[in-house]
Amino acid sequence: APTAQIIDGKAIADEIRKEIAAEVKALQEKYGKVPGLAVVLVGTKGDSTTYVRMKRKACADLGIQSFSTDLPEDVTEEDLLKVVADYNANEDVHGILVQLPLPKHINEQRILDAISLEKDVDGFHPANIGALAMRGRTPLFTSCTPKGCLELLNRSGVAISGKRAVVLGRSNIVGMPVAHLLQGEDATVTVVHSRTPNPQAICAEADILVAAIGKPEMVRGDWIKPGAAVIDVGTNPIPDASKKSGYRLVGDVAFSEAKERASFITPVPGGVGPMTITMLLSNTVDSAKRAFE
Ligand code: GUN
Repeated sequence: APTAQIIDGKAIADEIRKEIAAEVKALQEKYGKVPGLAVVLVGTKGDSTTYVRMKRKACADLGIQSFSTDLPEDVTEEDLLKVVADYNANEDVHGILVQLPLPKHINEQRILDAISLEKDVDGFHPANIGALAMRGRTPLFTSCTPKGCLELLNRSGVAISGKRAVVLGRSNIVGMPVAHLLQGEDATVTVVHSRTPNPQAICAEADILVAAIGKPEMVRGDWIKPGAAVIDVGTNPIPDASKKSGYRLVGDVAFSEAKERASFITPVPGGVGPMTITMLLSNTVDSAKRAFE
């Protein structure tokens, strides 16, 4: 059997970033203003710091104005709410992102609810998620990683309508919204999670499998329906003494096994990862357009 076509998330993300850079330039020429994104980081947690740095750099690369607030781990909820309120009121800011997770003493829901709906480029506000889940409504913003997954399927020519889709994982950030997006595209969607008996049997029925459960290489080759499209959202560090860092990243799917059965598959790294920040930039530009027009 032929092996899967590998979906090159980096190349697709680079192509979309060129399109976004052109849009930013056109907005600059038409309105004399550029889109602005505020990125708020609380504390110094390793991977959060890395993601925030990448988001700020991506803005700079595309001509999007970046606003940064770094707060100490012990910041009060009141002070964080004040930062959000100031960005809500700042008309040069079109998107506000508070990097998650937040420290335990802060009520995450209260912070996410405080972000203006019009600036919720992460798509985490319950009103945006609610609209995503409902038929006949369009959210102002769709969460970045789920939107990136759909973009990879669309740009690879994978048909969604009428297909069986299985989403492994039910997080607010990925599993839940990606399931709604796929259902909105007329897939028949099953959500498999940590309490689902026999996940293998359900995954084996998937024409489209999205793995977002955070378990390194949980999905083996014999979980994959021959010809399926596999989107692997997992980014799990596992020990690797041959690396300077001491670890390497693997997905939720055993890639070398799965690529022998799938028709399309995303690698880790270089699959979904590069798309997430690109969708954030895209949401920020969409928001600025709505504000300028
Ligand atoms: N933490 C992990 N993923 C995300 C994301 O997409 N946005 C934010 N704000 N925090 C995250």
